[in-house]
Amino acid sequence: MKISILTLFPEAMQPYLDSSILGRAERAGLLDVAFYPIRDYSLDKHKKTDDYPFGGGAGLVMTPQPVFDAMAAARQRHRPSCKVIYLSPQGRRLDNRLARQLAGEEELILLCGHYEGIDQRIVDQLVDMEVSIGDYVLTGGELAALVLVDSVSRFVPGVVGNENVHEDESFEDGLLEYPQYTRPADFRGFAVPEVLLSGHHAHIEAWHKEKALEKTRAVRPDLLGEEQKPEV
Ligand code: ADE
Repeated sequence: MKISILTLFPEAMQPYLDSSILGRAERAGLLDVAFYPIRDYSLDKHKKTDDYPFGGGAGLVMTPQPVFDAMAAARQRHRPSCKVIYLSPQGRRLDNRLARQLAGEEELILLCGHYEGIDQRIVDQLVDMEVSIGDYVLTGGELAALVLVDSVSRFVPGVVGNENVHEDESFEDGLLEYPQYTRPADFRGFAVPEVLLSGHHAHIEAWHKEKALEKTRAVRPDLLGEEQKPEV
């Protein structure tokens, strides 16, 4: 999957993409990420990328010119049909379903905002979809873009070892995942649930289901169509 990222802070993102499973995916050619550092495209003599909002208000707003020019450069690396996603708290909420759908795209351009926002003409002219990673406000879109790349990449065939790995994961069957254990069976007196050592597959499966339901009911009753309990 080919992804281009427009950001003011590529150096904050690169190390994460070079590490662990995403790093391995990139070295294996399954993932091809390129950065377009927005400041490099600024025609301002001080390489400015932001300015005061018309009509007043707090904070600075990203100006159109550097983003339009960075986008034109990024577009050259992609097919004309490639979708552009702007990471913002105003966007559609990212979930596994959207991540799987985006993994089918083959190519994506991601735009990370900063400051208090970006000039609306950028969104109107250049962006196909706004995506949010949750109902909170980050200082910029970089962490959100990393979350999106990570969650989407897991649905790119070959990125996570086993093709069946998604089946038991949280959300795949509308439930959170059951708890997992590994060796030793007894760690400092804390024992692994007996059933998992029994070798009885039907019992183990029933236990997984029961624990997944228990956990979901306690933490995310909304996934079961039940009312959210008041916060503790
Ligand atoms: N940028 C700032 N906050 C964000 C959020 N919650 N999701 C995506 N991008 C963001």
